[in-house]
Parts: sequence; C-alpha cells; structure tokens
Amino acid sequence: MRLNCLVLWLMACILCTPSVHAQSLDNRLAQCAACHGEAGNSALEGIPSLAGQPDFFILNQLVLLREGVRKVDAMSEVVKGLEDAQIIAIAAHYAGLPPALTGEAPDPAKVARGSKLAAMKRCESCHGTNLLGDQQVPRIAKQRVDYLSAALKAYRDNMRTGADTSMSAMIFGLSDAELDDLAHYAASR
Ligand code: HEC
Ligand code: HEC
Repeated sequence: MRLNCLVLWLMACILCTPSVHAQSLDNRLAQCAACHGEAGNSALEGIPSLAGQPDFFILNQLVLLREGVRKVDAMSEVVKGLEDAQIIAIAAHYAGLPPALTGEAPDPAKVARGSKLAAMKRCESCHGTNLLGDQQVPRIAKQRVDYLSAALKAYRDNMRTGADTSMSAMIFGLSDAELDDLAHYAASR
C-alpha cells in the first residue's frame, strides 16, 4: 500500500513538473508577444523585432535587462524573476523564428547613402555578412527603421544603458540624418 502511494506520487511528479514549467514559459512568451509581436516581428513603434536574432544576443540582453544593467522601463516588470532556464528557452525560441521587416518601408535615397556610410564604417565586420548578426552582436537587417534610428541615436548620445562601448565609438560624431540613412540601409537588408 505504502509502495503504491509512493509510485503514484512519483508518477504525479513526473507528469506534472514539465507541464508546470511549460505553462509558465508559455505565459512568459505571451507577455513578450504583446509587445514584440506574435511571431517575434514587432508591429509597434519603438519596439524591436526579436525573430531571427542570434541566440546569444537575446540571452545576453535578457540577463543584462534582468539584472538592471540595461534599463528598459517598459520591460522592468516582465523580466523580474525570469529564470536562467527560461531565458535560454526564450532565446532559442526567438532565434528560430524567421525575421520579417515591419513598420516604415526603407526610403531608397536614404538606403543608397546609408550603404556607402556602412561600407566606410565596416558595420558588417561585427554585425556579420548582410548584417545578420553574430554571437553577441545583433542582427540589424530587417529591423524596424524607427527602432534602429532611435538605438543609433541612443548609442551616439551615450543614452543606452549597459551598452557595449564599441557601438558608441563607431558612430561618434555622425549627424541625425546620417544615422537615419544607416537605419534605412540596415532595415533594407
Ligand atoms: C510593454 C512592452 C514590452 C514587453 C511586455 C516586453 N518587451 Fe522587450 N522590449 C520592449 C522595448 C520598448 C524594448 C526596446 C527598448 C530600447 O529602446 O532600448 C525592448 C527590448 C527587448 C530586447 C532587446 C532587443 C534589442 O534588439 O536590443 C529583448 C531581447 C527583449 N526586449 C525581450 C523581451 C522578452 C523575452 C519579453 C517577454 C519576457 C519582453 N521583451 C517583453 C518592450 C517590451
Ligand atoms: C566593433 C564592432 C561593431 C561595429 C563595427 C558596429 N557595431 Fe553595431 N553593435 C555592436 C555590438 C557589440 C552591439 C550590441 C551592443 C550592446 O550590448 O548594446 C551593437 C548594436 C547595434 C545596434 C542596436 C541593435 C539592437 O537590436 O538593439 C545597432 C542599431 C547597430 N549596432 C548598428 C550599427 C551600424 C549601423 C554600424 C556601422 C555604422 C555598426 N553597428 C557597427 C558592435 C559593432
């Protein structure tokens, strides 16, 4: 009798544990989707798409966000108590989704100017071939124009908390118009 109870208890544990975990991960992903889009491509101004970002970039940023090193007010509640295992699962989830351009369409004249500037500044040397991202360096191809433009200005003006200094150095002294050109070019890739 006692043994039966133990077996039943063990079975209940084995059956329940994974679903409890999956449930909370699903809840997390539903919260993320409200801002970052159902399939990881954002329909909202100022909010970046996550689909197709390198696994390691998402993981790294989520740890920085959770620890408050990178501060994003809109996300301060949702990253509270994110477990390491959930961060790993979330990063793998978004890394596996196909990126799609959303938001403003790139302007051809700005794309042409941005292309020259990007070649001069060698953006691909860190952001990878076709700006698809690599390890801790984000994909900027097919990212929203408004987000890219705001992110570049934040780096230039040292307003991005927790940022790697390599970016601020790269675009030091560029004008708003030049940063806009770079944003349109990257989005168009
Ligand atoms: C209320 C809206 C909102 C919710 C909910 C939200 N985010 Fe965000 N997230 C943002 C905004 C806004 C930014 C960009 C902030 C900035 O300008 O730097 C961002 C940035 C990020 C970034 C950095 C991306 C990059 O390209 O730099 C990651 C990764 C991220 N969010 C993941 C998540 C995950 C995972 C969840 C769910 C657990 C989530 N977010 C929930 C609004 C939200
Ligand atoms: C020396 C390597 C390096 C070079 C060259 C470089 N970047 Fe970056 N870039 C990074 C790193 C690393 C990050 C992530 C930094 C962080 O943690 O905030 C980043 C982040 C960004 C972001 C933020 C994207 C997001 O999703 O939040 C944009 C936009 C960007 N870079 C654009 C550019 C452009 C445009 C160029 C060329 C003018 C460029 N970068 C050149 C290393 C580089």
